[in-house]
Amino acid sequence: MLRADTVSAGYGGRTIVDGVTLSVEAGEVVALLGHNGAGKSTLLRAFFGLLPGRSGHVEVEGRSLDGLPPRGVLLAGLAYVPQERSVFPRLTVLENLRMGGYALTDAGLLAQRIEQALDLFPRLRERAGQLAGTLSGGEQRMLEVARTLLLDPRAVMLDEPSIGLAPRLAEQVFATIRDLAAQGRAVLLVEQSVKRALAIADRAVVMEMGRIVLEDSAASLMADDRVAKLYMGAAGKAFGT
Ligand SMILES: Nc1ncnc2c1ncn2[C@@H]1O[C@H](COP(=O)(O)OP(=O)(O)OP(=O)(O)O)[C@@H](O)[C@H]1O
Ligand SMILES: [Mg+2]
Repeated sequence: MLRADTVSAGYGGRTIVDGVTLSVEAGEVVALLGHNGAGKSTLLRAFFGLLPGRSGHVEVEGRSLDGLPPRGVLLAGLAYVPQERSVFPRLTVLENLRMGGYALTDAGLLAQRIEQALDLFPRLRERAGQLAGTLSGGEQRMLEVARTLLLDPRAVMLDEPSIGLAPRLAEQVFATIRDLAAQGRAVLLVEQSVKRALAIADRAVVMEMGRIVLEDSAASLMADDRVAKLYMGAAGKAFGT
């Protein structure tokens, strides 16, 4: 579904992501793990067409994303929730959702998709008329996730969606992520907590210095010494648990 082949990218001529090949199948959650600065966010930005000069090949459902700007990538079926906040603070929750579906020309369909998103997050429904900038951090995160669903993407990339969320809200976001996969989407998830990531993912890839150094089923990685070391050694602190 989502396929990347020898993708390299970086900033100002400095290579950060170095020849990454990975794929995520429909219905699958793949966790992208790695220490701070490993290049996880850069990888997602590269896939989404945000980094000029990216080399290699990315496709969704057989459609090439090479050379497409972010809007084209979105329309081709790949959605992205960045690590940094991305709601429009001066627009209401509802207006933010409408922005997420801006490419839908069918107003009835847009209204239906917004209803579905609000069904998924009742907390957002209660706050539909509230300015997004006044939502709590966790509520803003939910809005970002909800907004990506309006174009009914085939594949979704989420960069630390649980960051700053209380455990109960994080659980809710993770349950939603599992639902996305259950609906047949491909999900690529960056998550700081290795434990949480392996609990929700089918497979995981570990990134170090811009390269994929380990790739296996979540179940095998949970039992893998090398992953256990990432938890318990000094490095584990950076990784979180
Ligand atoms: N906009 C930028 N301009 C220049 N260098 C950048 C930029 N963003 C990130 N970098 C550098 O690229 C490297 C990878 O950063 P990236 O944000 O992709 O890591 P990450 O794995 O997502 O880390 P974290 O877990 O802390 O979010 C780092 O050395 C970082 O300093
Ligand atoms: Mg990051």
